[in-house]
Parts: sequence; C-alpha cells; structure tokens
Amino acid sequence: MLGLGRNRSQTRTSRSWSFSGMDYADSKRKSNFAGKILLAACLTAMCIIMLRNSSSFSGRSAFSRHELGITHVLVTGGAGYIGSHAAYRLLKDSHRVTIVDNLSRGNIGAIKVLQEQFPEPGRLQFIYADLGDAKAVNKIFAENAFDAVMHFAAVAYVGESTLEPLRYYHNITSNTLGVLEAMAAHGVNTLIYSSTCATYGEPDKMPITEETPQVPINPYGKAKKMAEDIILDFSKNSDMAVMILRYFNVIGSDPEGRLGEAPRPELREHGRISGACFDSALGTIPGLKVKGTDYKTPDGTCVRDYIDVTDLVDAHVKALAKATHGKVGIYNVGTGKGRSVKEFVDACKKATGVDIKVEYLSRRPGDYAEVYSNPSKINLELNWTAQYTDLKESLQTAWRWQQKHRNGYGSPLALDS
Ligand SMILES: NC(=O)c1ccc[n+]([C@@H]2O[C@H](COP(=O)([O-])OP(=O)(O)OC[C@H]3O[C@@H](n4cnc5c(N)ncnc54)[C@H](O)[C@@H]3O)[C@@H](O)[C@H]2O)c1
Repeated sequence: MLGLGRNRSQTRTSRSWSFSGMDYADSKRKSNFAGKILLAACLTAMCIIMLRNSSSFSGRSAFSRHELGITHVLVTGGAGYIGSHAAYRLLKDSHRVTIVDNLSRGNIGAIKVLQEQFPEPGRLQFIYADLGDAKAVNKIFAENAFDAVMHFAAVAYVGESTLEPLRYYHNITSNTLGVLEAMAAHGVNTLIYSSTCATYGEPDKMPITEETPQVPINPYGKAKKMAEDIILDFSKNSDMAVMILRYFNVIGSDPEGRLGEAPRPELREHGRISGACFDSALGTIPGLKVKGTDYKTPDGTCVRDYIDVTDLVDAHVKALAKATHGKVGIYNVGTGKGRSVKEFVDACKKATGVDIKVEYLSRRPGDYAEVYSNPSKINLELNWTAQYTDLKESLQTAWRWQQKHRNGYGSPLALDS
C-alpha cells in the first residue's frame, strides 16, 4: 500500500509554521506540502483513468466507443456452452467482447473463467439481461458501440420444444426479431446467426446441402427457421452483413481445459448424447439407452454429423472476417461424415475408459435415420474445414473437463463452486 500518512516528526514540525517569512525549514515544509499535493493529484488522476477503463464506469468506457482496428462483438448467450467457447476465441483474437446472458441456461462460472483469462480493462464485459426485455436490449445497444453481433442465446432442446413450443417461439423467434430491431435502430451492421440442421427436418436425400428444402418437424427447428426468414426478409432492404450458420451436432470442449459443457441437471432428460455418455461414465445415470436398432443404416442405429466446438467457433471467426455488407451467407457447419450412435458409444467408452452399460430399445418417435452435412460451400467460400474429426479425441477432451468439474461450473449463478 502507498503510505499517505505523515510520520510523527513531520507532524511536530508542521506545528511550528511561521507566517513572517520563509526560512529554510519553511521552504522544506512547503516543498513537502507541494509534493503531497502533487502525489494526491497523481493518485486522483490514476483512479480516474482506472475507473474510465473499468466497465463499471458510467461515463464513456472503452465499450461505448468504436476503436479503429478493434472489433467489438456482442455475444448473446456467452455464458452457455458454444457462446463461452466463441467468446474465448474472440478475446484471444484481440476482439472486444460484451456478453449478454440471462443465465437461464448458462453459467456465471464460464464468465469468471473468461474474466480471469482476459482481465485487462476494455476487453470483456458481462451484462446480465434477458433478450426478451426490449427496453433492456435497447439500453444495451444505446450504451455500447458494437461492430457485430453473434447471436447464440436460445433455448435449444428438440424434446423440450415439443413440450413447451410457445417458449421456443418466444425465446428463439421473437427474441431474434428484438435483437435485429435493436441492431437496425443502432446501426450495428454485422450479424452471425446460430441456426441448426433441425431446420431441414427429415430430408429425403443425404448429405444435406444449403439448397436442401427446409421442412422442420419440431418447434425448435420451426422457431429457428422463422428466425432465419425474419433475418432474410430484413436483409433484402438493408446493407447488413449476415452470416447464417446451420450447425450439426456439437461436441467437445476447449482443448486447454478451461471451458466445457455444463447443462442444467434438470435438462438431462432432454440432453444430448455426449452428456448422457459422460453421465453414464460418471455413474450419475445407470447407463445409456440407445433408441432404435433397425434403421436403414450400416449398423441399424441413427447416423449424425458430430462437429467439434473448436471447429464450430473457428467457422464463426471466418464468417465474421468474410461478412460483407448487403450480403447474406448461409452455411452448413458439419464434418460431412455421418457417425452411427453405436460408433459414438464405442468412442465414448474408449475416451472415458469406462465400459458404459448400454440398453438397446425400440425407436423413439420423431427420430430420423440419417442426418449429415455436405460442407463444400463453407470449405470453398470461407476456407473452413473441420480439423477435429476424431470422435474419440473430441470426447476425450470433453471428458477431461467433465472429470475435473463433476458439478459443472458449480452453482450456475454463484461465483464460488
Ligand atoms: N449444442 C448444439 O448441438 C447446437 C446445435 C445446433 C444449434 N445450436 C444453437 O447454438 C446456440 C447455442 O447453443 P448452446 O448449446 O451453447 O446452448 P446453451 O444452453 O449452453 O447456451 C445458450 C445460452 O443462452 C442463454 N439464454 C437463453 N435465453 C436467453 C435470453 N432470453 N436472454 C439472454 N440469454 C439467454 C442461456 O442462459 C445460455 O447461456 C443456440 O442458438 C442453439 O440453438 C446448438
């Protein structure tokens, strides 16, 4: 700590202050006094600079002004699985990031990891807000100078969407409309939108290209398709740069082990296959239930296209770099390879080293046999190709994080786990 207090002798000498002239002792005392004033002034100036740089300062912070050479990206849903990985990559690439999340599904622990990695002022700010709150969204856009938006925030479980369709239309379709309106009102001209292969439904022909007709069969896919349509209609008369990325099945986690996938336990029943594999390996659930062994696929189980989150995030970075005003790019983000559920389970057993118990059951209504992408368009136009295509390795990375974080990030809303 800086010592600002006077010592005893100084206090005593200051008592013999003379008004009748300036002797040596006086001038010394005066220079002491002037020094202290100078020190106080310097400290005050330092505090003001620190406050100005800190995100909590209500004046013009770094987040509220555009800066040449720095792209300020609003990452909605940045406390979630994919959004947190994307925020990490953007920060690593020297972008400025604002995360907006209502923590309904994400984790404050993920935000804390990001803040620890990028503590410098003006790099990362977190705003706790609900995108369904138009007033709050407008205020966020009014107070911040965004250059681009990556809109990840959404509820994202097919099964849940069939039980609570209105929630999905509201959270996905209506909130995307709100984000788009705010972008238009505040002149933010670049949007990277998280869409899904669920917008294709159950196509007759594989692999799926961007030209494959979109006929979604569940409220999740329909809500995303409607959000896409709103964006496309808007873009016809605007010079917004739009990139719509349709992800296939996302797996894996940060190779350095800083971030992972930590969905709410209550969502487990709607959860994804990787989560179920890890839960089985950890003994949280008794085993895996594979539904359907008589599909017209090489081993009778469903086939999906699993894309590693590191590759997916890379596709976003490339999309951001190539986004062009007045143009729309639509891309499938997948590996182009279909893997059966049986293959996935084998990879999961190898990755975890646990002989996971598997129960084979009859088909689940609504599941389709095969879904995999043709990623030629993104390969060609964005120069993007999936690099992490070894299922076992992706699962091993995710497993390492799961083992170290048996309770995910701890309490989703509290900083201490
Ligand atoms: N995970 C996949 O396999 C997959 C596949 C295709 C598409 N997607 C899409 O990717 C995006 C991210 O998915 P994810 O797997 O990371 O999900 P996630 O649940 O881990 O993250 C979503 C985040 O959005 C936040 N959020 C939700 N509603 C919000 C609201 N109204 N206001 C503010 N924040 C809100 C949640 O709190 C959470 O942090 C979603 O749009 C999803 O549809 C995911």
